[in-house]
Amino acid sequence: MKVAIGSDHGGIHIREEIKKLMDEMGIEYEDFGCECDTSVDYPDYAFPVAEKVASGEVDRGILICGTGIGMSIAANKVKGIRCALVHDVFSAKSTREHNDSNILAMGERVIGPGLAREIAKVWLTTDYEGGRHANRIGKISDYENK
Ligand code: RB5
Repeated sequence: MKVAIGSDHGGIHIREEIKKLMDEMGIEYEDFGCECDTSVDYPDYAFPVAEKVASGEVDRGILICGTGIGMSIAANKVKGIRCALVHDVFSAKSTREHNDSNILAMGERVIGPGLAREIAKVWLTTDYEGGRHANRIGKISDYENK
């Protein structure tokens, strides 16, 4: 699996924590920044990561900002992206099983690095269940392709 990861200035610490986790898990990733802790605009990081996922060049994406909200709103504008804003382990598991989410968004001003790590670990290792959920995701794709 290959992952694209990015954050704005509000998410740099969790981004580093998740990169450490992926190193430990042997997961390959591409880091899209940001490279500084001065104020930047989250769409400038959300769109390149989301486009990388949508194009199939990487399998999944992880985006972090202060709340995770801006990143998730921006990423979900890219066709083919199902970005889930997650701050608990149950939702991390459920959104992979039910929504086949291909981007995980988290907020560094909402949760700490320990919980973010657990969420990312579960999200990265949980498979999509398909079955009854496929029809529902199909309806989203149909709407997107209208
Ligand atoms: C940046 O101050 C902050 O607005 C951003 O990190 C994010 O929380 C937006 O949704």
